[in-house]
Amino acid sequence: MQTAILKQRPDYTYKFNVESGRHGWLRLTPAYSVKIVEELLVESSARQSVLDPFSGTGTTALCSTYHGKNVVSVDINSFLVWLASTKCRHYTSDTMAYTRELGNLITRSIHNGNLDPISAPPIFDIQRWWNEDELLFLRTLKSGIDSFCATESPERDILLITFCRILIKLSNAAFNHQSMSFKDQHTNQLLILDRSLDFVRLFANELDVVLSSAQHNPITTAKIVLGDARDLEKCTQDKFDLLITSPPYPNRMSYIRELRPYMYWLGYLKEAREAGDLDWETIGGTWGIATSRLMQWKPTSDNYLTDELSQFLSKLSESNEKNGVLLANYVSKYFSDIWNHLNSVRRVLTTNAKVNYIVGNSLFYGFVLPVEIIYQNMLKSVGFDHVKITPIRKRNSKKALFEYNVSAISP
Ligand SMILES: C[S@@+](CC[C@H](N)C(=O)[O-])C[C@H]1O[C@@H](n2cnc3c(N)ncnc32)[C@H](O)[C@@H]1O
Repeated sequence: MQTAILKQRPDYTYKFNVESGRHGWLRLTPAYSVKIVEELLVESSARQSVLDPFSGTGTTALCSTYHGKNVVSVDINSFLVWLASTKCRHYTSDTMAYTRELGNLITRSIHNGNLDPISAPPIFDIQRWWNEDELLFLRTLKSGIDSFCATESPERDILLITFCRILIKLSNAAFNHQSMSFKDQHTNQLLILDRSLDFVRLFANELDVVLSSAQHNPITTAKIVLGDARDLEKCTQDKFDLLITSPPYPNRMSYIRELRPYMYWLGYLKEAREAGDLDWETIGGTWGIATSRLMQWKPTSDNYLTDELSQFLSKLSESNEKNGVLLANYVSKYFSDIWNHLNSVRRVLTTNAKVNYIVGNSLFYGFVLPVEIIYQNMLKSVGFDHVKITPIRKRNSKKALFEYNVSAISP
């Protein structure tokens, strides 16, 4: 699938996609999302201003800029705002040439032993993630980037993306959706391969990949904004006639958990507590401290409850499952947040704007949570018209999990 799409549109399918493809690490921009966004942009080609209130790695923003649209993307996670901005930026040939020079300078300094490695980031049990040699190389490489690049320069950003790709390649961790495991360090085939190539060559190869994708510049410039999708008027003064987004699904996946290695190495997280705090701010987050806060969370009186939602919550709370009540709270809070978002988004849309919410349903203890129907009912209650559910694909061959586009027209 990825190869096919790479051939069709090499320019942005892979532009700074830090996903290694090796273990599904950071599966936030699978090629599949690009295809969906592309189709929705083509279907609404007359519409000019695009909003993605849950930007993630910036798929909607990047595709929209290649279609010449004005686009604003919002995310609550500052690392993802940096990542999407770096992907969507225009790079001059001078910047590319200078980045290559800096890359050579860093390589020479590593060879000559002129760099003091930075301290390892405070990731718990870091030796499980990287063996000693790999960790030392990463610390030295990061020191080179920090020493030779001006802060907030495009060259530094390109080198940091390269660094992100390398840290995945050298890692012992296997990331797969909600579960994460560590490979047996002695049977790390890739590592053996990379060792023989040598770390410095790995850096040169990865920098080549990133630079060659960076040369495909988009037509327009995206604005990527750090903000909260429940309060969009604070994030933008613009009005939009098209919304394409994939909000978090209510499936207990934590983006912060998945993104931890990047966020620690790049300084977006300094201690474990911050990860839990950010997950609590994030819609659908339940990791670390967020879980215990969820136990205390109470819905407010203006919380929205559809019949489907209240039936589902009763089933969960009345089940004899150990975490039934906690999960009922989780689902209830998720939709309370989405309700706040939908009320906020209305105010930044033009009349007759088209909205597309790509959502997945979920399973809790064998009960199907009909996410798409709840979105449909909520959109109607907020005043949207022509609300329609279009199935997109099955997400899992064994379980009843699907993805849908819930589309509507704003009042
Ligand atoms: C499913 S991902 C988006 C994937 C995206 N389509 C992409 O290209 O990677 C959902 C995103 O919503 C963000 N998010 C969660 N709560 C948010 C909030 N309250 N405001 C803005 N963004 C939020 C998360 O940080 C995550 O990046």
